[in-house]
Parts: sequence; structure tokens; C-alpha cells
Amino acid sequence: MLRNEPLRVLVCVSGGGTNLQAIIDKVADGTIKNTKLVKVISNNPGVYALERAEKAGIEAECISPKSFATRVEFNEALLTAVDNAKPDLIVLAGFLVVIPEAMIQAYRNRIINIHPSLIPAFCGTGYYGLKVHEAALARGVKVVGATVHFVDEGTDTGPIILQKPVMVEPGDTPEVLQRRVMEQAEWNILPEAISLIAEGRLTVEDGKAVIR
Ligand code: GAR
Repeated sequence: MLRNEPLRVLVCVSGGGTNLQAIIDKVADGTIKNTKLVKVISNNPGVYALERAEKAGIEAECISPKSFATRVEFNEALLTAVDNAKPDLIVLAGFLVVIPEAMIQAYRNRIINIHPSLIPAFCGTGYYGLKVHEAALARGVKVVGATVHFVDEGTDTGPIILQKPVMVEPGDTPEVLQRRVMEQAEWNILPEAISLIAEGRLTVEDGKAVIR
């Protein structure tokens, strides 16, 4: 059943923002239903993701750990900025920051993350970005993919929402494989997960995500 009000979505980024762009485009063309992008936060200054947000007319802010004396102060500033945007959903779209525990508690089952592997393969501490694809090629797996999951206190351990497989091809480099996983999986399943939530079709029951 559709929610009455549009889902207020805040997107957190660290880099190029191709996943953010997929979300922006699919909100604009109606593939993601009933959703308003209220804010983009980056922990890195000068990244292209911030420019993508500004071009789309979305409020964008950089909150860098380097601007704060301690991690505690950074975490507080991040949570304050998030709270002020009054989001219904926080989307981690390539956000390479450990989410403060206070934020996980305040937004339980309202934070989702895209990870570039089929969890539980190639996930957890140290597996992010290109490193995931390097590890998959080093192991010689034939199928890779991406996962959207809710964020809990662990690293990549929350309830799995959607997964999509992608084939490894002969001669793949980490960069080529990363691009294929983005094109064939990430840019589709992350927007799809947001739309499911905006349509009120996703719940968490007994620690598992259930789609209706
Ligand atoms: C994406 O491949 C995303 O899955 C990955 O970072 C990249 C960001 O790209 N996230 C992680 O590795 C999280 N553990 P983008 O800035 O172009 O969307």
C-alpha cells in the first residue's frame, strides 16, 4: 500500500556518486515512486557526487571527519545533520564511513546500504570498492553481484533486501568487473529497494527483510 506522504530520502556518499545518479534519474522518471530526495551528505570534500546533487537541485553538504578534533564530535555533527533533514530513509550509496552506533539505533531498519558483492561473500571489514572485485578475481569465482541490505551494528551483516548476480568474464580486471556489477546490478537493485520501501512493501520480520 502506498504511503500517503512521499518517502523523505537522505543519501550519503563518499566518491563519484554513480549510484546516487541512478537514484536521481529514477526518481525523476518515476521508476522510484513516491519519493523525495531531501539531502545528500558526503564525508569527502570536492567529490563528484556533491556536484551531481547540486545539478539535481538537492541540498548537499560535506561533513568531513578532518574538520573535527575527535571522531565523537564528527559522529555528533553527522547525526545532527541527518536529524535536521528529517529523513524517513537513509541510503548509503558508496558511503565509506563507519556509521555511529547512535545513528543505527535512532534509525533502526531505516538505513540501507549497497555492497558490491553477493553477501556473505567478500564483505565485512576491509571489503569496499575495488578491493571487493580484486578479492573476487583473486579467488577465481565465476559469479559475483551486489546486495542491498539494512544496516545494523555489524559490517554488512544486516537483513538482506535484494541481491543480483553478475557473471565474471575471461580477461576481467577489477575495474572492468566493478563497472559491470554497477551497470547490471547496483544501479538497478538500489533504486528498486528504495521504491519498495516508498510503496510500503518492505518490512523486517524475525531479522529478515520481507517483500510483499
Ligand atoms: C559502489 O560500487 C558501492 O557498491 C561501493 O562503493 C561504490 C561507490 O560508487 N560500496 C561499498 O563498497 C560499501 N562497502 P559510486 O560512488 O559511483 O556510487
